[in-house]
Parts: sequence; structure tokens; C-alpha cells
Amino acid sequence: MKITILFIKNWPSARLVFCLFVPICKTWHLSVESKRHHIFLKSLVQAKKIIYIWPFGFQRLSSQYHFSKMANRRDFIQKIGAVVGGAALSGTLSTVFAPQLAQAAARVAGLAPQQVATDESFWYEVRQAFTTSPNLINLNNGGVSPSPKVVQEAVETYNRLANEAPTYYMWRVLDGNREALRMNLARLAGCLPEEVAINRNSSEALETIIFGLPLQRGDEVVLTKQDYPNMIQAWKQRAIREGIVLKWVNLELPTEDDDYVLKKFEEQFTDKTKVVQVTHMINWTGQILPCKKIADAAHKRGIEVLVDAAHSFAHINYKISDLGADYFGTSLHKWLCAPFGSGLLYIRKPLIKKVWPLFGAVEPEGEDIKKFEHLGTRSIAIEQAIGHAINFHELIGAERKEARLRYLKNYWAEKAAKIPRVKLLTSLKANYSCALAMFAIEGKEPTEVDQFLFNKFKIHTVSITWENIKGIRVTPHLYTSLKDLDRLVEAIEACAKT
Ligand SMILES: Cc1ncc(COP(=O)(O)O)c(C=O)c1O
Repeated sequence: MKITILFIKNWPSARLVFCLFVPICKTWHLSVESKRHHIFLKSLVQAKKIIYIWPFGFQRLSSQYHFSKMANRRDFIQKIGAVVGGAALSGTLSTVFAPQLAQAAARVAGLAPQQVATDESFWYEVRQAFTTSPNLINLNNGGVSPSPKVVQEAVETYNRLANEAPTYYMWRVLDGNREALRMNLARLAGCLPEEVAINRNSSEALETIIFGLPLQRGDEVVLTKQDYPNMIQAWKQRAIREGIVLKWVNLELPTEDDDYVLKKFEEQFTDKTKVVQVTHMINWTGQILPCKKIADAAHKRGIEVLVDAAHSFAHINYKISDLGADYFGTSLHKWLCAPFGSGLLYIRKPLIKKVWPLFGAVEPEGEDIKKFEHLGTRSIAIEQAIGHAINFHELIGAERKEARLRYLKNYWAEKAAKIPRVKLLTSLKANYSCALAMFAIEGKEPTEVDQFLFNKFKIHTVSITWENIKGIRVTPHLYTSLKDLDRLVEAIEACAKT
């Protein structure tokens, strides 16, 4: 039997104690910070949505309200879903479904990230948090990441709650929680909450900027041939419709030379350049570009910087301010492992006013970042479950995550590089790559290799032919085992021999 306890205060140490020493307990956490939250809590109590509340720091509320205890286990299980959904108003609901993982995290807490990166017993516990298929080795996590169980269950719970009375729970209850989520995302990204808009993906975030920036005919935009197709197509559309001019950088990759990259961008800057787009991590090969150096060079010339961080956010450990971005877009369903269809747009505060929203807003020229959130009806369950992905990410730890992902990439890539006819198309140095890497086999088309890996070894990768890039991209994730990567190396070797 599981006992579930709702904590009414941000008291992570108390929650941890319960997870560690009372294994039959699951804990939920609700932070009651304002009068609005108290009123909401009271309405939950009156609606008999709250089952049991741990009384730490709750004396005032507990004397004010009457809390119902669970009548029986079935009732308890039915109600807890509602507690979760309702508690989400605070945005700080946190769940720990796997006490073993919390225990493992506590065990490695004092160790250096590089040391934890090779601690297979810790990563074994992390693997248990996912529900990935045992019948397929998925090494295309670069496309989209699986969510851990805790995030999937949060989506289901919020969705069930929303379906009790959609307009009430979605718009009157859960929608109010967006501000707490915005704060959590801002903390993770290292910016102000007023600079964060929550949306559905990188494409939406970046195209909001591409189509929303006020540019005149003849204004120039610098971008690379290696940028993501959606962004390239959006800029091309503006060029066709409005006569803005696109100036192309063509990078030879991989590179370990920041000066080379910087020079290639600077060569395209002119007096007419208004914006430069920088893909922080090139999705095809995993190359990390020296974003801050490019941004500094751009800012010296009065050029604004748009960063495509689809692949770098919650993958490598940084804050937006480290990049020098004026505008920044990412998908949260990639490396943060949030639900599919979740994204973030950042705009440096003074610039919000001048960017037109894609969808009409009451004050399109206003300074409120929320003008970019007029997306119509959408899944509030997906949005609200982002908070659980943040909790999971923070439990693993951003530095530990980055170190592990790089370790996994190097593990297979160093072995593969020694196989005759195999060529790595990604640098293995920490400054230039993390989890994503690409290889090619001399004399073989990427599709041929991709099919061989899948048909003979049930290994799912992706073949890429784009501009001057041709190869197979391999992307492990936190749940990938060394055994899976050994199998990959065996498969590459077998393919190279054919
Ligand atoms: C570099 C880059 N930018 C943007 C995107 C678009 O992401 P989404 O499909 O989540 O909008 C991707 C997707 O893989 C990408 O790799």
C-alpha cells in the first residue's frame, strides 16, 4: 500500500526524508504562497478534492479548513489525481515516483559530475524512470526525447482533470498556474519571467521572431546553410514577400576552430545587416557553435542575435545570458524531456515591444511577453506537465546530465572511429559536441547504413543528407545503456565489412 502525503510548503528535505526512509510514501508538494492560493485550496477542500495534508507549516490553514481523510484506498486513488491537478495551481507540485532514484541522487550528490557520468548503478536507476521499448535500441533521441514516467503520468492526470469540466479546470484552475511555470522556466533558463513565453516548440518560438521583427526591404539577415529547414524556409518566405536579403554562411564541419566560425559569420556582416541567426548546436552533426563570440561581434555592429537553441537547452548546461542572445527559441520536448508539443520563447525585455506577435493580441505593440501566447485552445495538460520535467531534470542535475551524455557519445564514437572505413563527422572535444554525433562509412550511402543497422540489429538512427553533410546521426539519451552502445559498435563494424 502506498501512502500519499501532500506537503504544504517548500520543504524538499522533509520530502526527501520520506522518500528515503519511508518507502511506502509518495509525496506531493504544494506551495501556498498567496491569498489566491489559499482561496483555491479552500475550494479544493470544500469540493473534497484533498485527501490528506501533511501539517508542516500549515497550522493556520488547518485550523481554518476541515480536511477530509481518505475513506478507503479506492477513494484515495481516485481522488489523488484531482489533488495533483488542483495543486498545480501553485506550479510547484513535485512528484517523486521512484524513491530509488531519489536515493541514488542523494548518494551521488557530493561527487563530481565526471565521476557520476561513469557510475552505472546511478544511471541504472535513471533508466527505470523511463518507459522506453526493450525491443528496439533507439539512438535517434535527437529527433524528440521520450518523457520519463513521471511526466507522462502528469499529462494523463491533468488531462483527466481537464475532462471533468474542460472550461472550468482548464481555464479557471490550471491556466492560473502558467505564471508559476513561467517562473520555473525563467529560473532554469537564467532570465526574467517577463522574458519567457510558453508555447509549443522551437519552430513556433523562432518563427514568431522571424516573422515578427520589423524589417525593411533591403535589410540583411545572416544565417547558415546548416541551419534547420523550418527556419531557413521562414526567412526565405520573408525574402520573397518583403524583399529582405539573406546572406549565407556555409560551414565546413566538423571544426574545432572558433576563429574560423567567427570569421565566416563576420564576412557576411555589412552596414545593412540587422539580424544574425545562430544555431547553438547544429542538429545534423551536433557541432556546438561559439554563440557568445558571434553575438559579441554582431552586437558591436548593432546587429541583433536570434539563437536557435532547439538542441542545446537542458542538454548542455548554460544560461541564456551566456550566449548573448537577444531572441532565443527552444523545444522542451527535446532535451528537457517535457511532453511532446512544448516550447519556450525568450526575448530580451527591452525588445519585446517591437516584435509583432504571430497571432493577434489586444496590445500587439505592448511590452507584455504574454502577447505571444494567444495561441487559441491547446493542451493545458502538456503545458502543465512541463513543471514535472523541470523537477526530473533538476533531480538528475544539469551538470551530471551533460557529463553523462558526453560520456555516452564518446563511449561509442571513440570505438567506432577505430573501425576501418568509418569516419567521424563530429568533434569529440567537450567544447564542440555533447550527445549528438555523426559518422559515415566510406563508399556507403547514409540510407544504406541506416537500413542495415535497423534491419540487422534493430538499432534506430537517422540518415542525413543536407547541404555538405552526409552521414548517420547517433543520439543516445540518459536511459541508454553501455550494452546498447556496444551493440551499436558491433553493428557499425558489421556494416563496414559488407
Ligand atoms: C536546430 C533545430 N531547430 C529547430 C527545430 C524545430 O524543432 P520543433 O520541431 O520542435 O519545432 C529542430 C528540430 O529538430 C532543430 O533541430
